[in-house]
Amino acid sequence: MAETTYYGLIEDIEKYLEYQRDEGVQRLEVDRAVLEALAKDPEPEVPEEVVVDAVPIPDDFQSLEAIVAHVSTCTNCDLCQARTTTVPGEGKSDAPDILFVGEGPGAEEDMQGRPFVGKAGQLLDKMIEAMGYAREDVYIANVVKCRPPNNRKPVKDEMKMCLPYLRQQIALIRPKLIVGLGGTAIEGLLGKPVSITRMRGVWQEYAGIKLMPTFHPSYLLRDPSKKKEVWTDLKLVLAELGKVPPSRK
Ligand code: URA
Repeated sequence: MAETTYYGLIEDIEKYLEYQRDEGVQRLEVDRAVLEALAKDPEPEVPEEVVVDAVPIPDDFQSLEAIVAHVSTCTNCDLCQARTTTVPGEGKSDAPDILFVGEGPGAEEDMQGRPFVGKAGQLLDKMIEAMGYAREDVYIANVVKCRPPNNRKPVKDEMKMCLPYLRQQIALIRPKLIVGLGGTAIEGLLGKPVSITRMRGVWQEYAGIKLMPTFHPSYLLRDPSKKKEVWTDLKLVLAELGKVPPSRK
């Protein structure tokens, strides 16, 4: 059975209530115990300490090349079994303005060994261009470096095993800002379950670096009406960098 996070459950309940309202239902009886349980703050499901300590980071991870080499033979989780190739990340590695973090490679990325080169990647390229950058001006990486079968969301253990690579990449790359694409990226970076619908557009912080959560390009392909929100988020990122979007041709 698929795992449900606290926030996922809240979103399902919201959808259910909206459906009932649209059907004309005006009152629902709810048990007091259920309301009390929902009102409590959830326990983080991926405690930060566990994520950080999951896999000891070897000392030779003092360069991106060392990380790439280590990732290419990594067998820390079962994702290694079905991968064609690993997808460590790419882009401007010396203090880029922006690091984009996604969830994990899809089919095309798994074939090419490069992040965001499929349909979602083409949309990400357009977003980057609309911000006045080229793909080579930013760094692009993922929470997990191997493709999860059928593009499913990586499970907690896979994220735990892979996150040290991303953390060390960020420490070496020193981006000015991070844009987290989708809930999984934000969950990985913040080490707790999140609702991307609530958190998008609201600055967070990862290791002293400002982090902007926004929707994943794959979600925008499914629901293009959400592009407006993402553009609002990306303009906040540009403003933080002291830039304005270039005028459209
Ligand atoms: N989706 C992601 O999250 N990352 C990729 O690299 C491609 C698609």
